[in-house]
Amino acid sequence: MKTLKIAVAGLGTVGAGLVKLLSDNAEIIALRAGRRIEVVAVSARDRSRDRGVAIPASVAWYDDAAKMADEAECDVVVEVIGGSDGIARQVVENAIAKGRHVVTANKALLAHHGAALARAAEDKGVLLAFEAAVAGGIPIIKALKEGLAGNVISQVTGILNGTCNYILTTMRETGRDFADVLGEAQALGYAEADPSFDIDGIDAAHKLSILTSLAFGTPVDFASVHVEGIRHVSADDIRFADLLGYRIKLLGIARMTDHGIEQRVHPCMVPVKTPIATVDGVFNAVVAEGNFVGRSIYEGRGAGAGPTASAVAGDIIDIARGSRVPAFGVPAAALKAQGVASIDRR
Ligand code: HSE
Repeated sequence: MKTLKIAVAGLGTVGAGLVKLLSDNAEIIALRAGRRIEVVAVSARDRSRDRGVAIPASVAWYDDAAKMADEAECDVVVEVIGGSDGIARQVVENAIAKGRHVVTANKALLAHHGAALARAAEDKGVLLAFEAAVAGGIPIIKALKEGLAGNVISQVTGILNGTCNYILTTMRETGRDFADVLGEAQALGYAEADPSFDIDGIDAAHKLSILTSLAFGTPVDFASVHVEGIRHVSADDIRFADLLGYRIKLLGIARMTDHGIEQRVHPCMVPVKTPIATVDGVFNAVVAEGNFVGRSIYEGRGAGAGPTASAVAGDIIDIARGSRVPAFGVPAAALKAQGVASIDRR
């Protein structure tokens, strides 16, 4: 079968990690995909930077990612630039308009424009795939769209932000305060470009709104997520929780109530015997509850080049195999508007 040609928009940690993965694992990927996968174009402003991976001379370089999405001779555009608007959105819109499949790791873009982009992709007959957008090392998008597709889902809960989980874990282990640990977490390189997105719960809310859409077959509704971050969690809060047998975790919770879907992100006291209480450091965890499967629990690294590139590669292989699974598991036109349960904020 014909080689699948890939253009990579953004050659930062994840983009470079993806190029390396596709090269290192080319043989097994070709076997699984039934065809070879080749990076034919990349976009990055600085061509001379050492990214720890060799870009073959045959690969076309673009300074302008949106132009690449428009012009490069490729089947798939991978968007790993980030941001809910601006260049990332333009890349995805251009690629879809040109009839190219899109793989993105961009949770902010999907949280704000996911339903419209899914619709545009379906109108063009291309796939919009985003396994890397939520908990990169956990195939939770695929789990909800495929493995659990036969269930009515009642609840999805998770630790969705590795930076916050690292901060809370380190505060507990060292007794240090939030402000002390924050810089350390940023130095690990997992934080968002604007770290307030992590610590104020916005990144987790972006991811939760995507999981809600997949779990309940509704359009992404970021605006209705109740969001509260971890800025005000003190070392004393964590110590007292510990003494009472709890861990403090920033959780994203989406559940069906009698009044509609409730979506919230906030610090929670989690009993130590609960499996996700012991998920520490940059790890993420997701718990899904289905009416036939019961409780299903997933754990893995939520951030970093390896897990994110792994998720992007999984999506590329799906496309190479000719997958037809809709972006949010339900055809975009059939996504059901759903009432939002009010949240008691007292
Ligand atoms: N800033 C995010 C996190 C990166 O810490 O989880 C992965 O989405």
